[in-house]
Amino acid sequence: MPSHTITLIPGDGIGPEVTEAVLRIIAAAGVSIQWDKHDAGVLAFEKTGRALPLELIDSIKRNKVALKGPVTTPIAEGFTSVNVGLRKALDLYANLRPVWNLPGVTARYTDVDIILVRENTEDLYAGLEHQVVPGVVESLKIITEKASTRIAQFAFSYARKHGRKKVTAVHKANIMKLSDGLFLECARNVWRDFMDVKYDEKIVDATCMHLVMNPSQFDVMVMPNLYGDIVSDLCAGLVGGLGVVGSANLGTDIGVFEAVHGSAPDIAGKGLANPTALLLSGVLMLKHIDEGAAADRIMAALSAVLKAGVQVTKDLGGTASTYGFADAVCDALKA
Ligand code: NAI
Repeated sequence: MPSHTITLIPGDGIGPEVTEAVLRIIAAAGVSIQWDKHDAGVLAFEKTGRALPLELIDSIKRNKVALKGPVTTPIAEGFTSVNVGLRKALDLYANLRPVWNLPGVTARYTDVDIILVRENTEDLYAGLEHQVVPGVVESLKIITEKASTRIAQFAFSYARKHGRKKVTAVHKANIMKLSDGLFLECARNVWRDFMDVKYDEKIVDATCMHLVMNPSQFDVMVMPNLYGDIVSDLCAGLVGGLGVVGSANLGTDIGVFEAVHGSAPDIAGKGLANPTALLLSGVLMLKHIDEGAAADRIMAALSAVLKAGVQVTKDLGGTASTYGFADAVCDALKA
């Protein structure tokens, strides 16, 4: 009997390829999982008329954990983003993105070790826009005490649990005094229960400059949704790009683990996709389901393959296919 049942969304584009690669590696690490597989996005829409089928939502609610490949979002027409829909339907309020250097991956810095925590449910992502009069539109930035408090609690709890020294709240409260002001007020209130962790605040534009000039000064960072969206990609750029960073979307008792890159239609089906980002998300998932030892073994095997730099995909300077890379990690696991 498998020890875990986990919802699997292979996605589309390069999604099925990178997902298959990650499943091979997790199996080679000896973790027994029954995958409850579901379509989302275009594939699901064509079959069921829904980009986010109810059976998929029910499966995740039942299993509490999902591994998700990238899903294409049609631009300016068609269904709304599956990713945003999932976060809303499951109240996945925290986006966690660990950003650190991997051996053998060329990057601008070698000392990056940042945990970025992004509020996932509100801010300008509420999508509340309307035309006031022709030529004038309004987009509402929603910040609530409830969501700001729980994301701050998530960031400080993470810092304490993982022996992190400092939490930085990122804002623009000098201009958005009410909305970002409330976000900061909530973070300060939560800090009162976490005085063993240092706390500071940084304006978002200055944060970007400091990240680019000296990223090692940052530890855990917490911020509203839109700043999180932008700053997290900037952070990925510090360590080699979106292909080498994993992420988790977490709610009270549900976790959806996904790569941060998209479905890459330009390389889909060609064996060129790098599975590292989804594998790192898979490693986060294994830790989440108390398979930490397997997660550590996978990290060691991945690091060995990346360091050797031969059996890696083209984007990392190698010649291996997606599955060639995965098989090399599987071999390293057995070594
Ligand atoms: P993208 O991340 O799919 O591609 C950007 C560039 O990076 C492309 O040149 C692609 O070939 C390359 N790339 C991406 N992942 C790679 C990998 N694993 N290995 C090697 N190269 C890789 O971004 P794009 O083109 O803006 O988006 C394509 C589609 O993906 C869109 O429909 C978008 O909405 C969707 N998307 C989905 C996400 C998700 O499901 N979480 C996240 C971001 C975008």
